[in-house]
Amino acid sequence: MTTPSRRPLVVANWKMNKTTGEAAAYVHRLAEVLQPGSIDVVLAPPFTALQAAAQAMGPSTPFALAGQDVFWEDKGAYTGEISAAMLKDVGCRYVIIGHSERRRVFGEDDAAVHKKVVAALRQGLRAIMCLGESLEERERNRTAAVVTGQLRNGLDGLSQEDLLAVALAYEPVWAIGTGRAATPAQATEVHQLLRETLAATWGAEAAQQSRILYGGSVTAENSGAFMRAPHVDGVLVGGACLDPDCFATIARSAEHRVIEER
Ligand code: PGA
Repeated sequence: MTTPSRRPLVVANWKMNKTTGEAAAYVHRLAEVLQPGSIDVVLAPPFTALQAAAQAMGPSTPFALAGQDVFWEDKGAYTGEISAAMLKDVGCRYVIIGHSERRRVFGEDDAAVHKKVVAALRQGLRAIMCLGESLEERERNRTAAVVTGQLRNGLDGLSQEDLLAVALAYEPVWAIGTGRAATPAQATEVHQLLRETLAATWGAEAAQQSRILYGGSVTAENSGAFMRAPHVDGVLVGGACLDPDCFATIARSAEHRVIEER
């Protein structure tokens, strides 16, 4: 494998879990067991725990915060929504956009995802845009068409500079929360396709710099294999991130890749 210069990115997606007290305890424990040096470690608590997590992290933290979603308007009469400016205000540097649970449970389509990506970048947040095929789409050989469509629609019109603030997370819907992860080879195949698709619009150099994460039943046991797979630049972790010791083990597997590359 050629050595990518992309800095690994490991994201903990807490989903709808943890109160403010639990968030602070998590951050304190993680700081005890994980001191990342050459990777980016991002925590995505629910909105209500962002402030508590930020406070527990403190100003010189090695971790960054992410929102799990964002609305595309800056402010106004949008009951229940949170803007990119609000995420920044509470200390977020990243935001997850277009998670398959948002797409499936809350009916988000590519147009909404696109507006959210644009709004996040406008406020200087980094976007982690999720995409992935359903089991039925995979079985009907639609994977390539689905993921490239989601990529093009979600990132439509972005400048090269904008693209550098975007990470993609390939999360096959059938692998999320099922205990049935994709194989590293399946991830590599899709990641390579996504990189080629990026290159076709934004050029080879920008595509080489873009980080593409894998997500879906990542565990402390399988994360090392994903991190060693070509074109996999990190992982987006759901269930296995809820225990800070387990998440630290996963993050260390990303750090190991950097060490192995030297
Ligand atoms: P999982 O979730 O690790 O629990 O499969 C991943 C995700 O949805 O981001």
